[in-house]
Amino acid sequence: MNATVSYTRAGPLALLRIANPPVNALSQAVIEGLSQAVQAFADDADAQALVIACAGRTFVAGGDITAFDAPDFSARPFNTLLARLEALDRPVVAALHGTALGGGMELALAAHYRIAHSTTQLGFPEVKLGLLPGSLGTQRLPRLIGTERALAMITDGQSIGAAQALNWGLLDAVSAEEPEAAGLKYAQSLLDSQAPVRPSSARSLPAGDGAASLQQAAEQAQRKGRYYPALPAIVEAVQAAGLPFAQGEAVEARLFEALRASPQSRALRHLFFAQRQAARVPGLAKDLVLRAVQHVGVLGAGTMGRGIAINFLNVGLPVLLVEQSAQALQAAVEAIRQIYQANVAKGRLTAAALEQRMGLLSGAVNESALANCDLVIEAVFEDMALKKVVCARLGAICKPGAIIATNTSTLDVDALAVATGRPQDVVGMHFFSPAHVMKLLEVVRGAQTDPVVLATVMQLARSIGKVAVVSGVCYGFIGNRMAEVYMREAEFLIMEGASPSQVDAAVEDLGMAMGPCRMLDLAGIDVGAKTVIEYGKAGGLPPDASYRALVRRLFEGGQFGQKTGLGYYRYEGRKASPNPAVDALACELAQTHGIVRRNDIGREEITERLLYPLINEGARILEEGIAYRPADIDVVWTCGYGFPDHVGGPIFMADQIGLPRIAQRLAHYAQTRGNAYGYWSMSPLLQSLAEQGRRLSDWKAPA
Ligand code: 3HC
Ligand code: NAI
Repeated sequence: MNATVSYTRAGPLALLRIANPPVNALSQAVIEGLSQAVQAFADDADAQALVIACAGRTFVAGGDITAFDAPDFSARPFNTLLARLEALDRPVVAALHGTALGGGMELALAAHYRIAHSTTQLGFPEVKLGLLPGSLGTQRLPRLIGTERALAMITDGQSIGAAQALNWGLLDAVSAEEPEAAGLKYAQSLLDSQAPVRPSSARSLPAGDGAASLQQAAEQAQRKGRYYPALPAIVEAVQAAGLPFAQGEAVEARLFEALRASPQSRALRHLFFAQRQAARVPGLAKDLVLRAVQHVGVLGAGTMGRGIAINFLNVGLPVLLVEQSAQALQAAVEAIRQIYQANVAKGRLTAAALEQRMGLLSGAVNESALANCDLVIEAVFEDMALKKVVCARLGAICKPGAIIATNTSTLDVDALAVATGRPQDVVGMHFFSPAHVMKLLEVVRGAQTDPVVLATVMQLARSIGKVAVVSGVCYGFIGNRMAEVYMREAEFLIMEGASPSQVDAAVEDLGMAMGPCRMLDLAGIDVGAKTVIEYGKAGGLPPDASYRALVRRLFEGGQFGQKTGLGYYRYEGRKASPNPAVDALACELAQTHGIVRRNDIGREEITERLLYPLINEGARILEEGIAYRPADIDVVWTCGYGFPDHVGGPIFMADQIGLPRIAQRLAHYAQTRGNAYGYWSMSPLLQSLAEQGRRLSDWKAPA
């Protein structure tokens, strides 16, 4: 038919094969090829059944997301094709394998029968892109598996396995055989039994099907719909499956088109590609022979060390934990067991899997036990002097070829690399708390990091399910360096008269998972303050005595946040109420440092003062070459800091706001707040792009 779709005959059976690597996405060429192949079958009177299968690692994994930005994109040609496919007068079988997703599922639903390899995952992930299934998935799926299940599948976007799909009637058969052969065999059995054609669009749902779940989903969607308009749209479209097919089709088409053009979906699509692009390190040869990592050591099993260990245990890698005392070690092992036990209680893990994972965990109180590890990650206290000592020991103990990684969140990775005496083996692996949950891993590339070490860690990150972003060495790397200016303004706003809840509410209203005060209370005021203190020791702080004075004073007063019940807020369990001591402290600090108290700080000022310096710092990070690309910054903030994905991350958001506006407001605050310490000085990159009317997202580092 064309290079992506072939049509062949095997006796009375016809085989339509799609080959569009890597994931057989429905490009225009594939749709055209499919159209011709369907016509060929329609004209081929001798062919008695049609099997649709895919070459390569998967059945169609969806519509071609790269095409969705095109102004003339339309789902109509594919939908028309599906109608023709379904209307064929001889049986059509879809033979699935790999990940049958989105448009791939819609193709399968238009077939009369579906068979899948037993390892197949089936799903409708469109919601993660801010979309709904736009090729009749919302209409055909409920007709096959009922409204309640269809609604759940499309709303949560998670895939289901072949066994469950068979159980639900989404599949007709499951096989362990090679998918194409299994499909042909199944089609032959249909011929043998004279099975009829079976168009799903001809079915109708019982009146009121899934009414309660539709009602419940509508209520939930209403709450989240402001940020995720796909949710209410999905409910409306699935509900329309109760109407005659053509009417439901029109509802789905209208809603899909509105979502495709929505800023939320554009932002989520941007992040889809940004996450995948971040894995590519410019200049790294593709044929590097990676180091084998079969045994991981973690030095320091506190909050982070425990979570880090879990990542590797989860994928079957043995982990050796090293702590300072038997007691500390035991506490860490117990804590890991408890985390797994909570998963067992929630039905997410079997008791056998818990024991299998715990069986991979061993412990020691002596660093020399790490000698056999292929990778050792240090996660001791954030203290440069201590870390240098620890790194020197690791440099001596670890076997040749072992990778030494540091989980430092701010410190100079190059200095630690030098301390090991083998800087080529050293890399930063900056996990985010809770380390077994958060998707982000900042991989810090030192000046002397061996490219093989970098490539090995990037591959390892993928194997433990992390989204990895490479950062160069600087204070705080990409994320925490930007967070520093954000926290700085949060504190100044409070010293000037805003309350922590006012500050938090302003950014939470934009969809931020947590405002800066709640975030620091959770992470620990002590952790935050120590970072500032260490930065001071390294000479990094501005000569401004009021700089982050609030967090230091809370720390001195033992108010460490949630863990002590007092911080920016007062806590009963997780419930936060105002901590009156903060207001008193803010007044006192304002007086000491000559900061004018005001009662006119509004929401707009708070969001601008928190976010525009953060964007400005992002631009500096780009011009200094700390991040390879603008989109990497968006990945860091959305995967590591709860920045709303529906605005695409800080850089994508900056382009939506417009750089001239941001430049103008930075200049405004430089004038009104004063700029003695350069807090409002504009990044030359931001300034020049704003003047040229260009976007930060399009910026590329000079080759
Ligand atoms: N369109 C275009 N490109 C796609 C794509 C798609 N639907 N799905 C994956 N790709 C690309 C990726 O960008 C990546 O490209 P790169 O190598 O240049 O970076 C390459 O395929 C491989 O993807 P992954 O790195 O993600 O490979 P994995 O093996 O880890 O995962 C996957 C495979 C599970 C299929 C995953 O890629 C995925 O989840 N894809 C998106 C699936 C999806 O969202 N489908 C619905 C699309 S919307 C739709 O169908 C609308 C319809 O209703 C009309
Ligand atoms: P923590 O205080 O919870 O744990 C540190 C652990 O290291 C303690 O259990 C301590 O006993 C152990 N330790 C100290 N010296 C040791 C030594 N010489 N040998 C063996 N064990 C030793 O600290 P946390 O929060 O886990 O932080 C660890 C590192 O992770 C720090 O570098 C921190 O900056 C970084 N980090 C912390 C994050 C957080 O949110 N807590 C987030 C990301 C990184």
